[in-house]
Amino acid sequence: MKAWLLKDFGLDNLQMGEVPTPDPKPGELLVKVGAVSLNFRDKAIVDGIYEPHTVPKNLIPVSDAAGTVVAVGAGVTRYKVGDRVNSHLYSRWLEGEPGPHEPDYCFGSPLPGGLAEYMIIHEDSAVRAPDNMSDEEAATLPIAALTAWYSLVDFGPIQPGQTVLVQGTGGVSIFAVQIATALGAKVIATSSSDRNLQTVMSLGAVAGINYRSTPNWEDEVLKLTDGKGVDLLLDVAGGSGINQSVAATKAAGRIAQIGFLTGQTVQLNLMPLIFRQTTIRGIAVAPRSSFDRMNAFLNEQHIRPVIDQVYPFEKAREAYEHLAKGAFGKVVIKIAQ
Ligand SMILES: NC(=O)c1ccc[n+]([C@@H]2O[C@H](COP(=O)([O-])OP(=O)(O)OC[C@H]3O[C@@H](n4cnc5c(N)ncnc54)[C@H](OP(=O)(O)O)[C@@H]3O)[C@@H](O)[C@H]2O)c1
Repeated sequence: MKAWLLKDFGLDNLQMGEVPTPDPKPGELLVKVGAVSLNFRDKAIVDGIYEPHTVPKNLIPVSDAAGTVVAVGAGVTRYKVGDRVNSHLYSRWLEGEPGPHEPDYCFGSPLPGGLAEYMIIHEDSAVRAPDNMSDEEAATLPIAALTAWYSLVDFGPIQPGQTVLVQGTGGVSIFAVQIATALGAKVIATSSSDRNLQTVMSLGAVAGINYRSTPNWEDEVLKLTDGKGVDLLLDVAGGSGINQSVAATKAAGRIAQIGFLTGQTVQLNLMPLIFRQTTIRGIAVAPRSSFDRMNAFLNEQHIRPVIDQVYPFEKAREAYEHLAKGAFGKVVIKIAQ
């Protein structure tokens, strides 16, 4: 089969090649990949800044895929040939709290990902793709939508009328705006672009703050929330901005620490954290059971993923470059024609 292979770190070392099409072992599905979507994680893996010691040579990258089952291994009962499925990043985390070794079983590193004509997914970790979505749309769900869902619903849990802050207009945050709005929450969004803020408000956000022209954006959040702060904040920016996130969250409020766009280390001011009694929880996507529940909700609420652009398989590198420049919503690569 044709596959993109990461020969070494750096986008120039991501090269199209031919590898044997894998055979499904007992319990596994062979999936003809329809489309994949890119996440910041995929770019960070290629750049060599995401747990580089765990990235295998000649990796087939990209975790998030949607496609059709074309063969099944012995003993498979959950799916049959012809079913449409999604990959699930933490392939062994099926429900409840995570075990200590979930990162060892992630697609797109260290397990082979979906940037190829076919991929193997164990039947236990596969998720039924929503019927009302194309493969391009369903491919956006496994990390971005599910992280937003888990933060809002499993960690939150956000209640109608409560306030949520989302940062920027990338994959996770746009899904968070859509899902939180559908749950009846009031969403405040930040962005470096006034135009993106307009668009995000058309998706349901009630207020927008430009974090570039208003670097002390937490003060604006306090003004918008009667001086209290939001109930739940989804922090994708990371770095020392966490201190602003604590200030923008109400007393005894919650922060879902999702991202590290501005840095993987932080100097955290403890006194405001202690006085505000904030809970900060690291989020690493979600178990498969949460994915199942989310897909039912997306179907029911008619939520459609916001896709910035779809690239053909041959233009995978251009898709990575697009993500690096910043995307509104998701960047998708269509594999099967
Ligand atoms: N822990 C998890 O389970 C998990 C899951 C998914 C993602 N993540 C992490 O979350 C982060 C976001 O992921 P993504 O896939 O949504 O990324 P993405 O699609 O690449 O989105 C990036 C967007 O973030 C915004 N941004 C950049 N710097 C910012 C800042 N200082 N403050 C506020 N917003 C900023 C920008 O929006 P504007 O152009 O509007 O300014 C940018 O377009 C990444 O670090 C990723 O690795 C973690």
